[in-house]
Amino acid sequence: MLGSTGSIGVSTLDVVARHPERFHVVALTAHSNVERVVEQAIQFQPRYVVMVDAKRAQQVRERLAARALGVNMAKNTEVLSGVDALCEVAALPEVDVVMAAIVGAAGLLPTLSAVRAGKRILLANKESLVMGGEFFMRAVQESGAELLPVDSEHNAIFQCMPAKVQTGLENAGVARILLTGSGGPFRNTPLAQLPAVTPAQACAHPNWSMGRKISVDSATMMNKGLEFIEACLLFNARPDQVEVVVHPQSVIHSMVEYLDGSVLAQMGNPDMRTPIAHALGWPERIRSGVPLLDLIKVAQLHFEAPDEARFPCLRQAKSAALVGGWAPIALNAANEVAVDAFLNEKIRFTDIANLIDGVLQGMTASTIEGIECILAVDQEARRSACQALERLRR
Ligand SMILES: NC(=O)c1ccc[n+]([C@@H]2O[C@H](COP(=O)([O-])OP(=O)(O)OC[C@H]3O[C@@H](n4cnc5c(N)ncnc54)[C@H](OP(=O)(O)O)[C@@H]3O)[C@@H](O)[C@H]2O)c1
Repeated sequence: MLGSTGSIGVSTLDVVARHPERFHVVALTAHSNVERVVEQAIQFQPRYVVMVDAKRAQQVRERLAARALGVNMAKNTEVLSGVDALCEVAALPEVDVVMAAIVGAAGLLPTLSAVRAGKRILLANKESLVMGGEFFMRAVQESGAELLPVDSEHNAIFQCMPAKVQTGLENAGVARILLTGSGGPFRNTPLAQLPAVTPAQACAHPNWSMGRKISVDSATMMNKGLEFIEACLLFNARPDQVEVVVHPQSVIHSMVEYLDGSVLAQMGNPDMRTPIAHALGWPERIRSGVPLLDLIKVAQLHFEAPDEARFPCLRQAKSAALVGGWAPIALNAANEVAVDAFLNEKIRFTDIANLIDGVLQGMTASTIEGIECILAVDQEARRSACQALERLRR
């Protein structure tokens, strides 16, 4: 469980706890939430807990030791720290399945470690795929790892796709992927009000309960942009074969349109435990705890085209998908810096897209030959984004 304390991590452990005969947690990993990971370790008794930094690892050790005195629990849990330890637990021989649910670029190395070890990877951490691009997908093919999408849209597409899609969509009889998105909390907000919206408003998603970074990405529709790139990579699709459709109810999680005109949709309540349970159980179906869909109560399904003037980040991501290579890496890095600055009230909501534009325009095009190149472009874009932030604050 990479990122066990986050929104996806908690939902995954909720599903895992419903199937004790089927799953055993080998390792939990977290960054800042000591309290939560200690509670999870006591409940799930993993062999390892990994914290990113050593100080917090020591806090976890002390708390587990204190709890183990009273009740004989979590005694066999070893607490490790550092990025190397994250990568090691993701590749342990006793691990069959890795849930990649760290947020942002920090997930790349541990997820790649699981890929190289040939694991079944349940991919929530879209940023690692957006950054890793074709290099990431090649590593999956070379190691024989299995990549199962957890992002609800890609999980929906996966469920609606024929098996042989990696040979190209047309060969598989597919005309288009219809990638749905709710449009987020600001779909109807007057444009003049957007500069003044707050982080709390941006994080109040109408349908989904998620971590703060992805919530802001949903409000800018950068999330849909990252998913656009993710869809091209996962399903071997050209950018012109993926269409974004705004669907405010979030009941249809995406669709696949076939050459004969058939459209297959996957539907369900907007609860991440459905795609998580699908990926955990695949190819079998297991219970997720999600209530069954009441279509009579839903009553109406609504669709519209995305407004790219309102959501410039979607346009930026589509352009980055066309360029490929360095562009999605720089886009992702600039977005992470900008979203963090917005959440910390250093820039306005509308500055996010401006900052990303500035970074993308200032980048020198480079060829991506391996992980070092990916990390170098990521660092260059972050430096440039931080400089732009300084200029905005002066
Ligand atoms: N939430 C959703 O509904 C949803 C849906 C689709 C896809 N996703 C994707 O799933 C991923 C996780 O999203 P989320 O909403 O669950 O995020 P979240 O609630 O913010 O959780 C992020 C997790 O990553 C850990 N983490 C943060 N920074 C880290 C670092 N530098 N190194 C290692 N671990 C770190 C956090 O640890 P601490 O909490 O201990 O700090 C936490 O466990 C994202 O890539 C997101 O795009 C999420």
